[in-house]
Amino acid sequence: MNKGLGSAVHLAHMFIGEVLTRGGSAVDATAGNGYDTLFLARRVGPSGHVYAFDVQKQALLKTHKLLEKHGLARQVTLFQAGHEEMDRLVYSPVDAVLYNLGYLPGGDHTLITRPETTIASLRAAVKLLRRGGRIGLVGYPGHPGGEAECNAVIQFAAGLDRALYNVIKISLLNRAVNAPEVILIEEGSGNNESKESTQNAGGTSE
Ligand SMILES: C[S@@+](CC[C@H](N)C(=O)[O-])C[C@H]1O[C@@H](n2cnc3c(N)ncnc32)[C@H](O)[C@@H]1O
Repeated sequence: MNKGLGSAVHLAHMFIGEVLTRGGSAVDATAGNGYDTLFLARRVGPSGHVYAFDVQKQALLKTHKLLEKHGLARQVTLFQAGHEEMDRLVYSPVDAVLYNLGYLPGGDHTLITRPETTIASLRAAVKLLRRGGRIGLVGYPGHPGGEAECNAVIQFAAGLDRALYNVIKISLLNRAVNAPEVILIEEGSGNNESKESTQNAGGTSE
């Protein structure tokens, strides 16, 4: 299967994979069928750790089964809890947080992620990121409620302090209206400080 630039999930994986290495730690905010958790668990290896959240037991059972099949269950903690509880359940800084919003494929399409809880969770996630850590989020404007959720995420991300975070949005331009959107957040305080001071020294401004 071609997993090139046409796959929003692949784009989020690429962005996160760059900072997530062996021994690292990550959160899968929406475990679902477990494919994203599997990706994260592979990246961190047996010496790292992944925390995966989902509100549905069915999703966590599927995720666990997939991880077992690949011999990766030991490096993953599964929480049957909303990702908005991330700050209560994950104690130490992480390298990456991944979101794949919407409903469980093959499950109940009315049980979806919601703007209020997604934003509460993102607030916790940005605090949880270690220096240089990244959040990758894939949103789906095509299902009922999805567009409002994507807009809420974009508004939240756009409001992050640019001295502390780099934020980008990727749109699949030649795809149908309502194509998935990718929002990427990087804790970049160190970089941005040095960038700004270089610019100031050179007398340039944005
Ligand atoms: C698109 S699916 C995730 C796909 C998954 N990452 C995969 O690789 O298969 C979205 C998931 O978010 C879950 N979800 C909904 N609200 C949630 C919440 N507040 N916290 C955590 N997960 C939630 C749903 O139950 C669903 O399984």
